[in-house]
Amino acid sequence: MRIAALLVAAGSGSRFGADTPKQFLTLAGTPVIRHAARALAAHVALLQPVGDAAAIEAALEGIPHLPPVPGGVTRQDSVRAGLEALVPHAPDIVLVHDAARPIIPDGTIAALRTALADAPGAIPAVPVADTLKRVAAGRITATVARADLVRAQTPQAFHFAVLLEAHRAAHAAGAATATDDAALLEAAGLAVAIVPGGEDNIKLTWPEDLMRLERALPALPLLPRVGTGFDVHAFLPAGTAGDRPLVLCGVTIPHERALAGHSDADVGLHALCDAIYGALAEGDIGRHFPPSEAAWKDADSARFLRHAAGRIAARGGILTHADVTLICERPKITPHAAAMRARLAELLDVPIGRVSVKATTTERLGFTGRGEGIAAQAAATVMVADPN
Ligand code: CTP
Ligand code: MG
Repeated sequence: MRIAALLVAAGSGSRFGADTPKQFLTLAGTPVIRHAARALAAHVALLQPVGDAAAIEAALEGIPHLPPVPGGVTRQDSVRAGLEALVPHAPDIVLVHDAARPIIPDGTIAALRTALADAPGAIPAVPVADTLKRVAAGRITATVARADLVRAQTPQAFHFAVLLEAHRAAHAAGAATATDDAALLEAAGLAVAIVPGGEDNIKLTWPEDLMRLERALPALPLLPRVGTGFDVHAFLPAGTAGDRPLVLCGVTIPHERALAGHSDADVGLHALCDAIYGALAEGDIGRHFPPSEAAWKDADSARFLRHAAGRIAARGGILTHADVTLICERPKITPHAAAMRARLAELLDVPIGRVSVKATTTERLGFTGRGEGIAAQAAATVMVADPN
């Protein structure tokens, strides 16, 4: 049984009213259409998006899909364009889904497939809870009996050949205003089954729907990830430091020598930033703050660490632990370790108990042993959800 899914994303979102069509807006850090595509991709081998190719490719990167095809003026036109593009793939079943519906509740697709054994079409639907009124010119003209009414959702599932035929016939007849696909089968007198829909299957339509969707999205599990960082800075030649201070882990240390570097050369902070970027798999400090940029000359490295901490927050994660080891013969670090821990905890906005600073010498061996520079290594543990 070959199953394809159409993801219709060619609407302009006029009721939502944003500059960007609503299906490309970000929901919980991920484009709305990407949530929908992921939910479908778990069930189908063929995913056919309909809409602006550049926007769709950007949003669906890494999710296998067929090349997007342009949509039409109405949703019905867009679905027909997608169905015609699927013809060469000859699917048995097609699921038609709104890109503006990021949540497909568990069980919906399985129930639709089962229902297709007895009917050429099946849709998820939910009962109507509110009393319904017909209104004209701001006045109620009638109360509509709601007992036999349901609200239709997507994905809607069909025998591919039947839906294709229904769309071609409707197009030939010049009708293009159906807002769902079941309507075309209904018009042709074909059976469409109903399976239970879900209240979380919200179609992003109005701005306030974004908040409802945020609440309805299942939370992704946070996983522990460990990153490591390493950095070295050379001491400036004796007597050339001028008034440049020696700054280690955000603390100015009285010392007769200072470190060379484009920024303030805080080797401990740089190693810790790289550990955090590493835990997030987001490159390194040089990617975020290129040394070629004049803006970072003599920069206070505190802003680099604040940025790294901000990236954890932006990913919805937390820093559970950071450990920095400074490697040098001099200055002696231990007298300053407590102040360094306090400063790092402040910059990272975590309790001091989550931050460790320690030091070692290299027994006078190597460049640190000869006092040519200071090295630092760091490890950071973060809890963060897998990237989308
Ligand atoms: N859609 C489409 N092509 C159209 C119109 C709509 O592919 N010409 C898609 C939308 O992108 C959406 C789904 O059909 O994923 C449901 O339509 P709707 O919620 O009405 O979205 P919009 O038409 O974009 O919104 P509005 O009606 O407020 O303009
Ligand atoms: Mg519309």
